[in-house]
Amino acid sequence: MRIGVLTAGGDAPGLNAAIRAIGQRAWRDGHEVIGISNGWAGLAQEYAGTPLRADQLRDVIGQGGTLRGTARFDLDAPPGGRERVLAAINEHLDALIAIGGDGTQRISHWLAERHAPVVGVPKTLDNDLPGTDYCIGFDSAIALVAESLDRLHTTAASHHRVIVVETMGRSTGWVAALGGLAGGADLIVIPEFPMSMRDVLDHVKARRRAGLGYSIIVVAEGVNLATLGGVEAGELSREGVRGAPLASRGVGPFVAARIEEHGEVEVRTTVLGHLQRGGSPTAYDRVWATRVGAGAYDAVAAEHFGTIPVVHDNRVVLSPLADVAIGQRPVPRELYDLCAAFF
Ligand code: F6P
Repeated sequence: MRIGVLTAGGDAPGLNAAIRAIGQRAWRDGHEVIGISNGWAGLAQEYAGTPLRADQLRDVIGQGGTLRGTARFDLDAPPGGRERVLAAINEHLDALIAIGGDGTQRISHWLAERHAPVVGVPKTLDNDLPGTDYCIGFDSAIALVAESLDRLHTTAASHHRVIVVETMGRSTGWVAALGGLAGGADLIVIPEFPMSMRDVLDHVKARRRAGLGYSIIVVAEGVNLATLGGVEAGELSREGVRGAPLASRGVGPFVAARIEEHGEVEVRTTVLGHLQRGGSPTAYDRVWATRVGAGAYDAVAAEHFGTIPVVHDNRVVLSPLADVAIGQRPVPRELYDLCAAFF
């Protein structure tokens, strides 16, 4: 069998561990593994698949990024991209493993509905793919957030300052919530549980009354500016809608500026940005990326197409792509309440 592997959307630590697992398992059973360059672009544009060799996957379990590249490639603008991907799969491959988040898995599902031999692998640093407890990259991201908060706490406390830390999280607040919990954040603002600037200022002032002159406030990049009491119109909202990096909306700097205006305290801002996506995967991401990668190969070998290996109760199980290609999984109330217990 010729098994194609691609990574689509944003990169994330752990992608190479998954590709390695797929390769090792497939070669052991005598199959050929084709690395597709730059995600869906490598199938929708000129075909960009070349065989992966054992030496290319030998030492990659700890390497960040993705060895065949990735891209945010819109298959619907202009229309016709999905059909070209379908044709390329039929012409060049016997199966395709697509590693990616919600956008990628919606395409995988569309292809599987048209009888393409496709299996997904859950990856999104935002951790909000429905139907799975694990997405490749999330653990590495929150490890970076936690370490950053540890560092920021010492300088914030020394200067009696507020530091606003903006994390990734386009639609949901998993990175902010769990990174913030692990790093001892003093307040966490996420899209799921809206907060106004009045709430944020009251919190800063209450801490000062309690003798705590410093605060670390973690804000997810996708928090709605209108809810905070800012502008969600004109330039800012157009950027969000068109898919420009959400960091350009400046939620972190916005919150920092409002605190400085009204909070009678010195404020600094740190936008963690792509530091959360770069570098080596944690051991947890290496292990689970290997497990879901191996699960994807097993699904291909058994011809269980239209599926995706997901993690439930610490086990890898096969789920229909239809069950994950349905939007985003929000942070549940009880988890946020646990974070808030430490504010
Ligand atoms: O979708 C994952 C993500 O990391 C988001 O959290 C973030 O908004 C986005 O990617 C950034 O994308 P890009 O690297 O294309 O700017």
